[in-house]
Amino acid sequence: MPVLIANKTTEPSFQLHQPETEQQPSASTAAMVQLQSVTKTYANGCHALVDVNLEIKKGDFLFLTGASGSGKSTLLKLLYGHELPTLGKVFVDGCDLSRLFGDRLSIFRRRIGIVFQDYKLIPQRTVAENVKFVLLAQGYTRKEIQRRLEATLKLVGLLAKADCFPDQLSGGEQQRVSIARAIVGTPPLIVADEPTGNLDPDNSWQVLQIFQKLNNFGATVIITTHDEQLVRRCNHPVVQVRGGKLYQKLSVVN
Ligand SMILES: Nc1ncnc2c1ncn2[C@@H]1O[C@H](COP(=O)(O)OP(=O)(O)O)[C@@H](O)[C@H]1O
Ligand SMILES: [Mg+2]
Repeated sequence: MPVLIANKTTEPSFQLHQPETEQQPSASTAAMVQLQSVTKTYANGCHALVDVNLEIKKGDFLFLTGASGSGKSTLLKLLYGHELPTLGKVFVDGCDLSRLFGDRLSIFRRRIGIVFQDYKLIPQRTVAENVKFVLLAQGYTRKEIQRRLEATLKLVGLLAKADCFPDQLSGGEQQRVSIARAIVGTPPLIVADEPTGNLDPDNSWQVLQIFQKLNNFGATVIITTHDEQLVRRCNHPVVQVRGGKLYQKLSVVN
């Protein structure tokens, strides 16, 4: 019997379309993510997103669905500053991403835990080394790194595999390492691009439960997925990306 995860509120607290305002675009303090009239056109002329508005409140858990090529990854890339919007504004945790470059963007990215479908682990490094890697660059003390490492590996259920190399792990375990790496710095926002795309249903569910736990601890979680079954098992708001636009799916259809 699947555990159905209840919404914190009966109404989803994100909005697709905000009312018109005469004020200059600015960041709302309650919002973790705000896209304001965002259009993304790639250099080849491809319109990935067209005049999109989206607000995701701090502490929300949101699924982004849509066919391949609909713009899901583009939307996430705008959030972690891998792409800039052609038009419009992107705010994350109060920061206007168009103003962040170089070191300031790198430091800002520490506030976002990013998880990919293909794990992106370093094959020659152990689980512990893969996870610690990000903290070493950030000037944490050895003691604090060890404390965070242990707590994080415990949370993803991999403490016993700390000294294994990625090729000694199953796909589900590798994905849990990549989640550990993304969250070891305790970012307030976690974005995951098809994190269960290579996993079987049991492993997908395990991974989803980790994201759920992180959300219960207060993190804002945004997950793109094709997996309708997984979405149905969770009771979280769903936004569909279609033709460069966003559509809110209010109820989960069984
Ligand atoms: N770097 C890029 N250059 C040109 N077109 C791109 C680039 N990245 C994505 N696209 C195009 O933008 C559209 C949306 O892509 P993407 O955001 O990757 O969709 P999804 O993640 O939903 O599969 C697609 O038509 C894709 O071909
Ligand atoms: Mg994608």
